[in-house]
Amino acid sequence: MLKNLHMTIAVISVLLFTFRFALTLANSNKLTLKWLKIAPHIIDTLLLGLGVALSVQLAINPVEQLWFAEKLFAVFAYIFTGYYTLKLARNRAMQIIGFLGAIGWVMLIVRLAISKESVFLAGL
Ligand code: HEM
Repeated sequence: MLKNLHMTIAVISVLLFTFRFALTLANSNKLTLKWLKIAPHIIDTLLLGLGVALSVQLAINPVEQLWFAEKLFAVFAYIFTGYYTLKLARNRAMQIIGFLGAIGWVMLIVRLAISKESVFLAGL
């Protein structure tokens, strides 16, 4: 089922991000391993592709479903804060703050996905 696959890939994406964050904190040279550089791109592309396929299959669009628009925004924010954490943050404190920010977005994404009710756009 498309939805189960989507959820599995989402979990792998977050685990992979957490693993790379831990390696960054540890200053590990494992970060330069080829599979660790390639896998996140494949996983995240799959996640996005499956999400789009799922929304087409279920006829959900962000213009009519506010929670879905909010989820897309939260996914964008998760990708950006993740990029910040692993690439832009210049010291440990910035990396930790970036990671906490990214995980906060993941929590919102999961909440939105399950409840299908917008949190911040409600009432608009
Ligand atoms: C970190 C990223 C993501 C996470 C953690 C995530 C998580 C989830 C979860 C847990 C569900 C199942 C909800 C349920 O129990 O019914 C779900 C469903 C869904 N997701 Fe995602 N998702 C992510 C990204 C995306 C993206 C990028 C898209 C679209 C481009 C998307 C589109 C959908 C759709 C259409 C559903 C089905 C909603 C329904 O059953 O009505 N997701 N997601």
